[in-house]
Amino acid sequence: MAFPQSNVQRELTRNKILEELQIQKKQLLLKQGATPTINSSPLTVSTQVVPNAEGGHSMNSHQQRAALQTAHAQSMGYFISQDSLFGNLILPVLPRFDQKKIEERLQCVTGFDKPKAKLEQYITPPHLGSHILYTIQSQFGDLDGKLVADLGCGCGALSIGAAVLSASLVVSFEIDEDALQIFQSNIEDHELTNIDIVQCNVLTIPSRFYKKFDTVLMNPPFGTKNNEGLDMKFLEVALNLSNNVVYSLHKTSTRNHVIKHANALGAKAEVLAELRYDLPATYKFHKKISVDIEVDFYRFTV
Ligand SMILES: C[S@@+](CC[C@H](N)C(=O)[O-])C[C@H]1O[C@@H](n2cnc3c(N)ncnc32)[C@H](O)[C@@H]1O
Repeated sequence: MAFPQSNVQRELTRNKILEELQIQKKQLLLKQGATPTINSSPLTVSTQVVPNAEGGHSMNSHQQRAALQTAHAQSMGYFISQDSLFGNLILPVLPRFDQKKIEERLQCVTGFDKPKAKLEQYITPPHLGSHILYTIQSQFGDLDGKLVADLGCGCGALSIGAAVLSASLVVSFEIDEDALQIFQSNIEDHELTNIDIVQCNVLTIPSRFYKKFDTVLMNPPFGTKNNEGLDMKFLEVALNLSNNVVYSLHKTSTRNHVIKHANALGAKAEVLAELRYDLPATYKFHKKISVDIEVDFYRFTV
């Protein structure tokens, strides 16, 4: 003869039965290829993964695989399938970018109207800029969600690329008001809200900004003619501003000097790529239609 159950015992038994029923229901739905949600109503489109015999994961129907492929093809994000406690699917979406898309965006950045030779105003060409930015994000993850500074931003080619690649905020420093007016209209054309512009001489940025930025980007003046040494002064400021990493372009002919200078400032210098900077004839003193300059693309860690 069974002893009569107390209220608490009855409650416990009922809960146990309900739990078992939930598990059975889930297993049943998994076998049918449907996706149980928290309230167990199946979704019409799913990309569920189930553990396979080897302990790995496999898509559990053609329909689901097709849905994931469609999502990948049509979306600007990467979909990652995961198991959840409830056996249903979570699809986090990571921003997707590719070098071509960035290049297309940079091709729509308006450049200097009347470039000023004494400020060494050359826009970073879209092809070069997109490779640089793509490398910074895809190899090092140094843009997405980061606080970024762009020194000598000009009309904003690098800043706009960094903003498109989901920097949390880009603060862009430039001395020339005319360039910044063009930059402002570029920001509006690109409908970006994660860029702040500061008009100032980069060499006088106050020390309260030191170590405030995760990533510093720059295509600085190369320090030619009347600007001798300006590239290294920019580098010094960049290393002061960053708490992590600086990316910059410098003439290949100055490589030994740049690396020595960076080391003396306590930074590790790495040449990520040798590039050809195709400089179109911009100024009256340029005699050729265009000239290729060999440029190193650096990553400095502070
Ligand atoms: C080679 S351009 C690069 C422009 C832009 N970053 C790009 O990638 O297209 C160098 C920029 O540095 C700016 N510049 C030069 N000296 C500066 C200074 N002391 N402070 C701030 N900006 C400066 C110039 O006006 C110019 O826009």
